[in-house]
Amino acid sequence: MLIKQARDIPSSEITPESVYRQRRQLVKALLAGGALLAARPALALDRYTLDADEKRYPGPDWLQAQLRSAKAGQPISGEALTPYAHVTGHNNFYEFGLGKEDPKQKAQGFNTDPWKVEISGEVAKPGTYTLEDLLKPHALEERIYRLRCVEAWSMVIPWVGFPLADLIKRFEPTGNAKYVEFTTLQDPAQMPGQRSFFSTLDWPYVEGLRMDEAMHPLTILAVGVYGDALPPQNGAPLRLVVPWKYGFKSIKSIVRIRFTEQMPKVTWNQTAPNEYGFYANVNPKVDHPRWSQATERRLPSSLFSPNIIDTRMFNGYADQVAHLYSGMDLRKWF
Ligand code: MTE
Repeated sequence: MLIKQARDIPSSEITPESVYRQRRQLVKALLAGGALLAARPALALDRYTLDADEKRYPGPDWLQAQLRSAKAGQPISGEALTPYAHVTGHNNFYEFGLGKEDPKQKAQGFNTDPWKVEISGEVAKPGTYTLEDLLKPHALEERIYRLRCVEAWSMVIPWVGFPLADLIKRFEPTGNAKYVEFTTLQDPAQMPGQRSFFSTLDWPYVEGLRMDEAMHPLTILAVGVYGDALPPQNGAPLRLVVPWKYGFKSIKSIVRIRFTEQMPKVTWNQTAPNEYGFYANVNPKVDHPRWSQATERRLPSSLFSPNIIDTRMFNGYADQVAHLYSGMDLRKWF
């Protein structure tokens, strides 16, 4: 190895002291800047490294800046995130088939940009908006929530979204707005489940919340998961997330938000009223007529490596939401 001695270096290559000092100042300034950046809340996107073979969903260009500046969420103490492969590979989205792997396989060509959402009913400012315009005023944030399916499996998912209440306030509901109804896209050409002979549901998929549930700070509209945009199978480009209710309330691919005076007629309740109530609050004491709701399979869980945990009242969010139902018989209003 060749090492240059100081006396071999021509004076033209020696950095003058003033320049050297300026460089040191610059390096110091850059380091200080780095420290400042580190002190900011971690950006959601930077938090997760996925396996190389896992497909990421960057979403439309216009969403990038909002996703990247999403404030990081609070982890749930003692409960690990469900791996990305399960969150995006084990889904219920009957518009794309009945099997858990159907949505991932069949929704990949689903066209979610451009997307429009109609705001209607009992509001002062009804209208139809592009998703871009709808989202513009909202700062995104990450929310790490449990998702408990009525079928007794569950996950812990880092959503990216914003409080539904913030959106509702913008459109100024009238005094008659007692409920909010949400509707999924109906497009049999894109959604094979909607043209299937075996489909048991009436389309489009509809869900609803009482106004105080919709305004609750835990209720969000999600546009992302694991720091990226929502994959089609998870309800791109806009879905509801209500963490204390069974997963079927968290309606996907929303095209209409309507404010009503009457309780909306919601899909699963209309299909099997003795099995699925309008409220659908997670409740380990009220069983489904065909299975117990006392426990759940926290994914990943398999026959040979089961991960069974107790189901908690309101999915573990009782402190925040139990007051919404005080005085109600939760066996009757299941
Ligand atoms: N939304 C629509 N439009 N269609 C559906 O079939 N399934 C629901 C809910 N939202 C469903 C839907 C059910 S039963 C559950 S458990 C959750 O979506 C699952 O969400 P995930 O697939 O993102 O885990």
